[in-house]
Amino acid sequence: MSAHIGVTGLAVMGANLARNLARNGYTVALHNRSVARTDALLQAHGGDGDFVRTETLTELVESLERPRRVLIMVQAGAPVDSVIADLVPLLDDGDIIIDGGNSFYEETRRREESLRAQNLHFVGVGVSGGEEGALNGPSIMPGGSKESYDTLGPMLEKISAKYNGEPCCAWIDTDGAGHYVKMVHNGIEYADMQVIGEAFDLMRSLAGIEPREQAGVFREWNTTDLASYLIEITAEVLEQEDEVTGRPLVDVVLDSAGQKGTGRWTAISGLEVGSPVTAIAESVFARSISSQRELRAVTNATFSAGIDETLSATEKYGSAEDRQDFVEDVRKALYASKLVAYAQGLDMLVAAGEEFGWDLDLKAIASLWRAGCIIRADLLDTIMKAYDAPKDQQPKNLLLAPEFNEAINECLPAWRRVVAAAATYGVPAPVFSSSLSYYDSLRRDRLPAALTQGLRDYFGAHTYQRVDKEGTFHTQWSGDRSEIDA
Ligand code: 6PG
Repeated sequence: MSAHIGVTGLAVMGANLARNLARNGYTVALHNRSVARTDALLQAHGGDGDFVRTETLTELVESLERPRRVLIMVQAGAPVDSVIADLVPLLDDGDIIIDGGNSFYEETRRREESLRAQNLHFVGVGVSGGEEGALNGPSIMPGGSKESYDTLGPMLEKISAKYNGEPCCAWIDTDGAGHYVKMVHNGIEYADMQVIGEAFDLMRSLAGIEPREQAGVFREWNTTDLASYLIEITAEVLEQEDEVTGRPLVDVVLDSAGQKGTGRWTAISGLEVGSPVTAIAESVFARSISSQRELRAVTNATFSAGIDETLSATEKYGSAEDRQDFVEDVRKALYASKLVAYAQGLDMLVAAGEEFGWDLDLKAIASLWRAGCIIRADLLDTIMKAYDAPKDQQPKNLLLAPEFNEAINECLPAWRRVVAAAATYGVPAPVFSSSLSYYDSLRRDRLPAALTQGLRDYFGAHTYQRVDKEGTFHTQWSGDRSEIDA
């Protein structure tokens, strides 16, 4: 029996994708460095469909129909290169190597270029949805050549999540485009989680709403325009009780957030392509600060001595009515900040498209995120509609789309009140506040960048342009201070 696809790397994501493929009627050849894992998978889930057990990469490759499709599901980085190096001598022209891990897009670009030169296809595929998604239908963002998608696409679409029957999988563009879009998805995921955390902290610190009660608040929010997977699971995490202490689980979990790198890459790439992804970068920094536990222990003791902001805050938001108003304000601040995170992420995709020569279709990308992935949200359907126009007629920024412009206007007073309260009472809200600054920067007629230019020209003769005539100028600061053409 020849297999439709081979999967090498059978940790949980690889195993679940292999099972998903088998459940969808594909014959899947299985390979893992240690055969025990292959056997464990077959033992536990062999009934999911047709599998071919192999012990070596040679056996795996020999078991495949042509063009061969080999899905690599190993840890991003050097392990991917090592599997590729082992596979290449076993493959023939036109075969397809697929990397379904969270690889860095520059590495995907490099690998694609090198394998293309050897007449092989290399497809970097962004896969979102965690373990559960991999098994039951993830959101899939494939890059690589269009030609390889013709062969591979139908399989990926079949195993992907469906939104109203439409697959959450479509070819993104060449080389690393799929992994790039997945990276930005993760950056938005970071921001999405951070704004949820800020809302939680503000409601607890300023209005005294405890985790169990907040579970109800988030559940209620999930029936509003905030409806999304992350809001839904926030309610579940908040109402979880610690088995040992009986306290809310969230109170016994160490407040130090980890990261595997995709959010950081998004922020770095934002800086590189000149796209201000402040919400994403602040979310990455918020995780970094949370991890500086030793420093925080010292600063907490030093900076907090004698200050009791939260007492007066709790008095302020103490009455039931005030609390309710505050909760609604926080909901609006969360929604507006979330819109900013999406607007920044999408802007960044446009900038990256220009940088890397990809023609990224924002409407199609939003459609892929509607189901299966971690940031799935009702909002994405509206985002799709906002970009439902020829490129030259699409909004220059998501916030300019009429429906979102209106939503921001509606949220704005509440957003300002929440950011002001956070600052007044000393509760950190880096994404709420930086997103508001981003919005205010966009709407501002003149920015103080003119002064920055003046200073740069003063100390470094970096020159400036003028509002009233063409050209580049320099003021002779150390001379008679007259202006010359530069
Ligand atoms: C997904 C997730 C997934 C993973 C992240 C978590 O879309 O399914 O984004 O890829 O959970 O890598 O990243 P951090 O460990 O950096 O939070």
